[in-house]
Amino acid sequence: MSSQKIIIDTDPGQDDAIGILLALASPEELDLLGIVTVAGNVPLELTSRNALMLCELAKKPETKVFAGCSRPLVRPLVTAEHVHGKTGLDGADLPDPTTSLQKQHGVDWTIETLLSAEDNSITICCFAPLTNVAMAMIKAPEILPKINRIVMMGGGYFEGGNITPTAEFNIYVDPHAANTVLRCGRPIVMMPLDVTHKALMQRKWLEGLRDLGSAVGDAAYGMMSFYERFDLEKYGSSGGPLHDPTVIAYLLKPELFEGRYVNVEIEIHSELTMGMTVVDWWNVTDRQPNVTYNNQINADGFFQLILDRLSLL
Ligand code: BDR
Ligand code: CA
Repeated sequence: MSSQKIIIDTDPGQDDAIGILLALASPEELDLLGIVTVAGNVPLELTSRNALMLCELAKKPETKVFAGCSRPLVRPLVTAEHVHGKTGLDGADLPDPTTSLQKQHGVDWTIETLLSAEDNSITICCFAPLTNVAMAMIKAPEILPKINRIVMMGGGYFEGGNITPTAEFNIYVDPHAANTVLRCGRPIVMMPLDVTHKALMQRKWLEGLRDLGSAVGDAAYGMMSFYERFDLEKYGSSGGPLHDPTVIAYLLKPELFEGRYVNVEIEIHSELTMGMTVVDWWNVTDRQPNVTYNNQINADGFFQLILDRLSLL
């Protein structure tokens, strides 16, 4: 596999953290051009600092981190401290960053990077509300041909929502941005709750992180143990779902996932169902397919991949 150029757009978040670490641990397959932060799980100042701390933890402080948008396009910001804790990365003591954020705004850097790239050459990996990506598309639509594909964690159909009965958090926080991105005409791959609710962390896997005997393993164990308490109580399942790393796992091992190429639209009008991903799974409309919508995962293979890669850091 030749190396794929990627940008990660993120709001860390413990599950974002594992996604970032998984990418940083996979330099042979992934050429991480930079990380752009956005307001989501916690406000922008914290998501930005968290991204810097994760690069420090992985001993890759040279990774460029850019702060993006501090609020959604239209609606007021909704955060998720009830899931992720006050800092967004509660559960581990992470090293203070030795480097600073890049000076350029994350949206401007995304535009500049795409415009200077070949057509079809950069994959945008989204772990968060899609504010930055939508802003970039609105500000500079000429970036579109440069995008190879957008692989995003967001949405849910068969599983319903996790922040409202019908909406998943990333889409709900900025439904207008999601609507813009889903209509952009470039290839889109979604990792919805229908996938991530089948990727449940088991105690043995968590202990495997701890047993790596490294700073990364200890931090991952601490963060994941804190993070899963919320979902264990909520769903009463045997383990909490691990969302954002599915995006990077898809780039590394697409064979772990299954789905269909279908039409997906975002609800942006009704307050009751705001941010719902309306998936035409059974092809009952004449709306054009726009998304590869995954709904199956080989969970054992996914968790093993993460353990194997994190052991390299
Ligand atoms: C998504 O919402 C956030 O809380 C997680 O980091 C993930 O990106 C899951 O719905
Ligand atoms: Ca996230």
